[in-house]
Amino acid sequence: MTQLAIIGGTGLTQLSGLTIIKREQLTTPYGSPSADFITGELNQKPVVFLARHGNPHTLAPHKINYRANIWGLKQLGVEDIIAVAAVGGITAAMQPAHIVIPDQIIDYTYSRKQTFFDDGNYPVKHIDFTFPYSPTLRSALIAAASQAGITISGRGTYGCTQGPRLETIAEINRMERDGCDLVGMTGMPEASLAKELDINYASVSVVANWAAGKSEGEITMPEIEQNLHIGMANTAKLLEAFIGLA
Ligand code: HPA
Repeated sequence: MTQLAIIGGTGLTQLSGLTIIKREQLTTPYGSPSADFITGELNQKPVVFLARHGNPHTLAPHKINYRANIWGLKQLGVEDIIAVAAVGGITAAMQPAHIVIPDQIIDYTYSRKQTFFDDGNYPVKHIDFTFPYSPTLRSALIAAASQAGITISGRGTYGCTQGPRLETIAEINRMERDGCDLVGMTGMPEASLAKELDINYASVSVVANWAAGKSEGEITMPEIEQNLHIGMANTAKLLEAFIGLA
């Protein structure tokens, strides 16, 4: 089995069922990762876990050192990353608490460090990003969901916004016209950095709320927390099934 990492986002700062073997604080040429890397076992299979927003959750999406996180995972020999993230639902099927394995990305972020290869140390790298998520990992996650009896969407376009604020109705309408099904804040440059280092990467996106304007009124924190509670419990089951199949 290849070395697997799980990056946990909002609602998943720790992984239930993970037997912790080692905690490592790594330094990288790009600075400090979000948190200690936790090496352990899930269902008797080795896995590395990283809390994307730190532990406790203190790093806003634009302040996350994505380069240090991905570089650290590479240093640990990680070949596959499952990135769990909370998102807003834009199109009709993306209802709160639903799990989605997206297949495409539109990047609306700015001023984030996008590449490892821009400081004169290495030749500039132009990765192919036709398929931003690993088709192999996506298929395995879809198979695991079916085995675990969890209803998911096996495709969708993830629009990545800068945050940390949520969007306006007009912004969500524009994203929908662009073809986005989901909106989140952490999918980029995480996915492209993984690709730069030849790490397979897939996202388990958990819908926390209807995106702005897709339901009555404003988006509230209790609503987000309640939906994430359900969605993350299913995500934990999905991950266990995924690891069981690997
Ligand atoms: N927008 C952006 N990111 C999010 C949302 C949202 O509505 N919900 C959870 N993450």
